[in-house]
Amino acid sequence: MLTTRPRGTADLLPGEVEKWQYVEERARDLCRRYGYREIRTPLFEHTELFVRSVGAGTDIVEKEMYTFRDRGGRELSLRPEGTAGVVRAFLENGLHAGPQPVKLFYLGPMFRYDRPQAGRLRQFHQFGVEVFGSADPAVDAEVIALTVDFFAELGTPDVQIELNSVGCPECRPVLAERLRRYLAPHLADLCGDCRRRLERSALRVLDCKNRACRALLAGAPTAPDYLCAPCADHFAGLRRHLERDGIGYRLNPRLVRGLDYYTRTAFEITVPGLGAQNALGGGGRYDGLVEECGGPHVPAVGCAIGMERTLLYLAERGVELPARGGPEVYLVEAGAPEGAAADLLRRLRRAGFAADRDYLGRSLKAQMKHAARLGVAFTLILGADEWARGCVAVRHMETGQQEEIPLGDVPAYLRGRLNR
Ligand code: HAM
Repeated sequence: MLTTRPRGTADLLPGEVEKWQYVEERARDLCRRYGYREIRTPLFEHTELFVRSVGAGTDIVEKEMYTFRDRGGRELSLRPEGTAGVVRAFLENGLHAGPQPVKLFYLGPMFRYDRPQAGRLRQFHQFGVEVFGSADPAVDAEVIALTVDFFAELGTPDVQIELNSVGCPECRPVLAERLRRYLAPHLADLCGDCRRRLERSALRVLDCKNRACRALLAGAPTAPDYLCAPCADHFAGLRRHLERDGIGYRLNPRLVRGLDYYTRTAFEITVPGLGAQNALGGGGRYDGLVEECGGPHVPAVGCAIGMERTLLYLAERGVELPARGGPEVYLVEAGAPEGAAADLLRRLRRAGFAADRDYLGRSLKAQMKHAARLGVAFTLILGADEWARGCVAVRHMETGQQEEIPLGDVPAYLRGRLNR
């Protein structure tokens, strides 16, 4: 127990962490260029926020939340997703009263108690973006473009966008009723989940993975056929933007997302070959959510990408991520007076180099071996003779070449060779 991490969690060790940092840096830089600013919200919120926003009847709220009572008796939950907390922060901090649209992004852990498997964890990480204050389909297109660019810049331009419109509170009940009527003669053949869903959130049956249900639903009515005129216009507008911007997508009239807050646009980023967990990300519009949380009417759209699935996919596609890290310079002590090595090391670190030394009292040979194992580019050997001449021996580890450099010139020498 003491040496076992909780099921569905992961340790990111040095080597792997640098890959995450690289992907996170790409996300941050992309957001900077697209005009999104970072927001950090708490890892836990009042449970009621998720019940209201994600939806009481969803799997996330019914089965997957880490809910607890704190010592003050408050009902809290670890956030299962990022949108609800961002909406709460948007309202609580009066961002709706400032200039619109408000464009935000976040990176961080989320928690869902689901059955762990490859690409599905109980603590996982999302990169998400949310835009508040515009109903223009151009914003939906921008969010989709940002996700497409994210994967293209990581070296995987072949992700697919699956697109649908799930309508609004005006047109959705019409489709729900049609679905109920269509399925009424087949109730006994539907799975238990679908029978229950048909009552509360009928559209979700369209997304059932059960083979018998899928067969029954083959000719079922789907959202795009029942959109009201404003929703149909919005969807057509979004498709025009995407086509104009050269962003490929596949219409999927059965795409219904697992969260209740969506209106109109719903999309997923999928890839072939990741098995059941083939959605790298997903998002859509949620024009009613700010109001549902007690605020004014503020249209909004966003999306979140799963970091673990993204990294899995990159690895599967053989994309090499820079695993920078560890020292680039190792200082070997070989008889120079006490303090000389510490002094040089400090100067190197101040000059911006990742530099390290021995702290285990190793012999010269063992220090050299250790430096090689660390994979440093240069080893500096500070012996008594070199030090007496005001120099240090610098060994280029790749070529094995060694030369003596005046102590004062070492930073400039390294800068030139390490391309700084
Ligand atoms: P979601 O589809 O529930 O949407 O999650 C988005 C992504 O998070 C998924 O596509 C997947 O890559 C990743 N993900 C979800 N659950 C897990 C898990 N258990 N393990 C690993 N990865 C997982 C949302 O969360 C919405 N908040 C997205 C959004 C933002 N909609 C509008 N704005």
